[in-house]
Amino acid sequence: MQSKIDLYTSEIQGFTPENADELERFRIKFLGTKGIIKDLFEEFKGVSAEEKRVLGKVLNQFKQFAEQRYSALKEGFGSQEKDQQSSEDLTLPGSGMEIGGRHPLSLVRKEILEIFKRLGFVVAEGPEIEDDWHNFSALNFPEEHPARDMQDTFFIKKNSGRDDIALRTHTSSVQVRLMEQGKPPFRALMPGRVYRNEAISARAHCFFHQIEGLYVDEKVSFADLKQTLYYFVQELYGEGTKVRFRPSFFPFTEPSAEMDISCSICKGEGCQMCKQSGWVEILGCGMIDPNVLENVGIDSKKYSGFAFGMGIERITNLKYQIKDLRLFSENDIRFLKQFQSEIV
Ligand code: PHE
Repeated sequence: MQSKIDLYTSEIQGFTPENADELERFRIKFLGTKGIIKDLFEEFKGVSAEEKRVLGKVLNQFKQFAEQRYSALKEGFGSQEKDQQSSEDLTLPGSGMEIGGRHPLSLVRKEILEIFKRLGFVVAEGPEIEDDWHNFSALNFPEEHPARDMQDTFFIKKNSGRDDIALRTHTSSVQVRLMEQGKPPFRALMPGRVYRNEAISARAHCFFHQIEGLYVDEKVSFADLKQTLYYFVQELYGEGTKVRFRPSFFPFTEPSAEMDISCSICKGEGCQMCKQSGWVEILGCGMIDPNVLENVGIDSKKYSGFAFGMGIERITNLKYQIKDLRLFSENDIRFLKQFQSEIV
């Protein structure tokens, strides 16, 4: 009996049915009511008590093995059959394809870049991990100066100021890289992600996106800066949008200003978004400090320039009236779907 079981075991092991019919014949042969296993159990009744002790276990294991093999093979055929069915029945409705949409920040970034491209600005990018020189020192932030605290920095390696490595706190670092590498005139936009060590809330995040603009040539004046930004605002928020400049401070620009626009939501009448003032701030700007030009090897007597920087989140919030910054990075499909119609 033992040798019979051994033979059947190797037969089952080598069994690879080509179709479901063959598998069914296998089931009848081994597991059917008049099948081999049934016969073996009949035979088992007749063996001596001593043999029974050993054979009982062997027989049960064999039965289990045959059953397992059968169900494993059956599963394989089951799924194959289903596949065949669906590929054959051409009348079944097709499975729909979900089309993704662009992220609102990408949409707005694209829109901003396109407006400035019409004025001849090109796009430049730089690394998100920066050294102290490009993020601070070259931009006229004196070492150990409190101006560095304006931007809470994530340091990767903190040595002595000059050797520090950090996540860039603004895209102004790309300004430095661009000017170091080339010769004026420069007319560039620098979009990118920036990082600041701030607690995450509806109004602040530890990372956000900026677009910085840079214009350097002979005889560039504050009037050029104003006109460029005025044009930008009319294009982005519609004609008739008013602008105003308030004096401000940035280490790398002198004079510096912050630019407000008449609130795009209430058109200047006063609402929650503009805190009833009718104005909302959208960017910082100024004439590039001569020290910055000299730091990157540009003759500040011959050349002058302006720079401006804006947060893409802020511009997007004003455009779509989004009140919570966290929505931009949570990947909530219900939020993102609202922008799907604007695939470009
Ligand atoms: N880098 C400044 C900031 O992050 C913005 C800015 C850019 C201001 C260029 C003036 C000129 O706040």
